[in-house]
Amino acid sequence: MGSLILVRSGSRALHGICRVPGDKSISHRGLLLGTIADGSSRFGGFLHGRDCLATVQVMRSLGVEVDFLSETELVVHGAGLYGLRESPDVLDCANSGTTMRLMMGLLAGQRFTSVLSGTEQLRQRPMARVVAPIRRLGATVLGRQDGALAPLTIRGGRLRGMDFYLPIASAQVKSAILLAGLYADGITTVVEPGSSRDHTERMLASMGAPIEARGRTSRIHRPSGPLRPLDMHIPGDPSSAAFLMVAAVCASDADVLIEKVCTNMTRHGLIASLREMGARIAFERLCDNGAEPMADIRLRNAKLNAVRLCGDRIVTMIDELPVFAVAATQAHGTTVIADAQELRVKETDRIETTIMELTKLGANLQARPDGMVIHGPTPLVGADVESHGDHRLAMALTVAGLLASGTTRVHGAHVTADSFPGFEATLASLGADITVE
Ligand code: S3P
Repeated sequence: MGSLILVRSGSRALHGICRVPGDKSISHRGLLLGTIADGSSRFGGFLHGRDCLATVQVMRSLGVEVDFLSETELVVHGAGLYGLRESPDVLDCANSGTTMRLMMGLLAGQRFTSVLSGTEQLRQRPMARVVAPIRRLGATVLGRQDGALAPLTIRGGRLRGMDFYLPIASAQVKSAILLAGLYADGITTVVEPGSSRDHTERMLASMGAPIEARGRTSRIHRPSGPLRPLDMHIPGDPSSAAFLMVAAVCASDADVLIEKVCTNMTRHGLIASLREMGARIAFERLCDNGAEPMADIRLRNAKLNAVRLCGDRIVTMIDELPVFAVAATQAHGTTVIADAQELRVKETDRIETTIMELTKLGANLQARPDGMVIHGPTPLVGADVESHGDHRLAMALTVAGLLASGTTRVHGAHVTADSFPGFEATLASLGADITVE
């Protein structure tokens, strides 16, 4: 995988049919939940990216067998709720926040000690949001700055269920608490201020776990018997499809069909926002895999108008905001993104890095403490830009490069494979003039 993407102007027409890799959140959860099922779970469409492969390694270190039948098909030989074994080594979560935070929930219920660590970038991300509730449930957690930063040591213990009112909507925090709740006495309840992605709840329900999810409240208690294994095809990741969606909607001429994308409403924010701006987006061939809805998504180019994003909408498109900012540079008027302070604690501070790099391409946008203000339409001009080691920023900048005149060089672009292996080839198959060096 090359580290430099070159995108040339003249790429503004996009046509064709494509697919995106399996959903990252569902792939992580499939592995994690498959390990505590009784029996073997089988997944097709698994995301073969760096983050999910870190979860595979962590599960293997805990004694679980994971067999790949192909790059995207795997079998997880579940050890049951109480079958994980202490790892003789540190559990390396690589750069994956989802792995570290969800594992803390699962490990809180195990009667052994684990140490979680990862890349320098991951060791700077906030962990207190999970550590605090896991401690309240009864696990012992030690870490740098009193558990605010990894490496983290977790000693599972006897857990007692309780109610949590999360100050921010976060599927990672919610999922960690629900996973710990599988091992707790009594009922564990999580109430969120917004509706974060609900894949954990859907999968646990398919496995027969005693879970109830209504609106912003999820409630779980310890299962009285074993959890059923899963057999599912993981739908395409809407957060990866987002890059193709924005590229198509902003192209001078486009008719693109992205097949089998997850259409879960807790992930719907980008499509809803682009539609409000005037984009032509249609769902075709709706179906589901038992736990998740999916559809083929057809996109055509359109003239976009500015929009204001805030409140509940933000959590349903949090990972899509860097590429949404690219769309906003092409929209007529001033777009405002508010209530998105969580962007500051992702792989990078995505408010700062998105603004810094899009400015190099000539975009007119400014930071707010909780988001950005973007003025458009602005003609973008090719330039050298940098991924900062952030996969979603690298792909957003590539899309911006497609819309820019001249040549755009995206440095540090190997990180696209963290969540979207085949990203460059997929864009090229739609007609983009793109090469990797
Ligand atoms: C994820 C939840 C989101 C998202 C991340 C994946 C998940 O993070 O940004 O990429 O799989 O639960 P937060 O829970 O921190 O909002």
